[in-house]
Amino acid sequence: MNERRSCCEPGPGSPVSREDVRDFYSKAAVTVQKSLCCPATYDKTDLSHIPQEALNISYGCGSPVNRADIREGEVVADLGSGGGIDCFIAAKYVGRTGRVYGIDMTEEMLAAARKNAALVGDNLGYHNVEFRHGFLETIPLEDQSVDLAISNCVINLSPQKVDVFKEIRRILKPGGRFLIADIVSDKPVPVEMRNNRELWGECVSGALTMDEFLDVARESDFRGLTAVKDYLWKEVEGIKFYSYLLQGHKFVEPEGTCCCKKLWASYVGPFDSVTCAGKTFPLGVPVEVNEEVAALLRSQPYAASFDITDPETEAPAESSSCCG
Ligand SMILES: C[S@@+](CC[C@H](N)C(=O)[O-])C[C@H]1O[C@@H](n2cnc3c(N)ncnc32)[C@H](O)[C@@H]1O
Repeated sequence: MNERRSCCEPGPGSPVSREDVRDFYSKAAVTVQKSLCCPATYDKTDLSHIPQEALNISYGCGSPVNRADIREGEVVADLGSGGGIDCFIAAKYVGRTGRVYGIDMTEEMLAAARKNAALVGDNLGYHNVEFRHGFLETIPLEDQSVDLAISNCVINLSPQKVDVFKEIRRILKPGGRFLIADIVSDKPVPVEMRNNRELWGECVSGALTMDEFLDVARESDFRGLTAVKDYLWKEVEGIKFYSYLLQGHKFVEPEGTCCCKKLWASYVGPFDSVTCAGKTFPLGVPVEVNEEVAALLRSQPYAASFDITDPETEAPAESSSCCG
């Protein structure tokens, strides 16, 4: 284990394990645990087709689904789906042509979720949700099969967060995105606290700082990372724990991208300048970029912020493949 990984994991020789977390949530699936509930607000109209039992065992810390700009026909994976609330909301958004996979390691959670999936399907008039047993560190889904990965208050619970982000990248299609509600701390959590099983299970001591989160996401080459603070959840031993909504995109360079063709990229605002791909783009000033950077700036979430032109014609540049 290298030094950087240790920021995200229990300390060396820590007693905290995935089995501890599973035991915690197998109890929470059958007996509602009030202390585990962070305030997560959902739009009532998103919940009308969901049985009360699924709502009662919802232990998220935000509502990633209704902010994910989900489109009909998309494939969504909910990582650590618990009682299934976010899967059931996503099922409505993706419609009958879309598909939703809920992944969880706790059998009791899966049993409740599967039972309610049948009722949700009857209420919607189609059945498009499937719950699979599995781990975030080895997600039981095909490579490049998912448009959107969501997760609600789960990644903090993983003792191997680097592996989780690698897996998210693997299952996402090129151009796919993740939207995660999770707990972020304002200071690194000390080792003694990381080793506390109760606090880890309660979504406290496995939390990352924002810098740690960005490091882990960048290690898996996610781009266009955004973080929106939702609310202060708890303060424990002088450390503040916030609920955040975190987003990132999987960029895959189009095949045949030319590294020698020069294009111009003009940043259209709203800031005075931005830095991206190692270059600074002052507002409205064309900056020379190669096709590789142009392809990145044409992708989400950058596309609306840049105009790409061909300096030879000064016309909007088509994406090209000129290396042949
Ligand atoms: C805090 S609950 C959140 C459940 C759900 N996302 C919600 O909003 O209600 C965490 C869930 O993640 C699952 N979980 C935690 N760590 C996991 C891992 N490494 N792999 C798979 N599931 C995991 C637990 O079994 C539990 O159901």
